[in-house]
Amino acid sequence: MVSVIFVCLGNICRSPMGEMILKKMVEEKGLAHSFCITSAGTSDCEEGNPVYPPAVRALKAHGLPYTHTARQLTKKDVINNDYILVMDSENLFDVLRLTSGEFGEKIFKLCSFTPSPRDVADPWITGDFETAFNDITEGCGYFLEYLLREKAEMFGYDKRH
Ligand code: 4NP
Repeated sequence: MVSVIFVCLGNICRSPMGEMILKKMVEEKGLAHSFCITSAGTSDCEEGNPVYPPAVRALKAHGLPYTHTARQLTKKDVINNDYILVMDSENLFDVLRLTSGEFGEKIFKLCSFTPSPRDVADPWITGDFETAFNDITEGCGYFLEYLLREKAEMFGYDKRH
């Protein structure tokens, strides 16, 4: 079993998109039973709120589910998950502040797995949910490739598949 938690600031745009996108990817590979995928925000500013409507539209446009209720990340979440995938440098800083600098070895910027490591631009600021969706999809794709290549033993994946 591999546990992954996506993290952004509010948990109403980028991290729920990450959660839905990666869930779909592992489902398509027949690996859903080997993954626990959730999301949370570094802030409590959107606690209890649903996914932000433009993010819902982006998910719907790609045939993905969009039900999620925002909640704040806790130190326990960091302890209990194998991978903490953040969207940008600010999220990384905030998670490390939450953990007093611990667990850095399992906290990654999502797009650090891609050939062009970068932040996922915050669509709350840019208004561009499609670019955010595409960046997150790219990051999830490369992250999953990395797991299947380097960590197959974590979930008994046969590389010959
Ligand atoms: P998210 O987007 O971190 O991708 O969920 C944001 C949501 C809310 C705010 C900022 C970003 N906010 O400032 O309230």
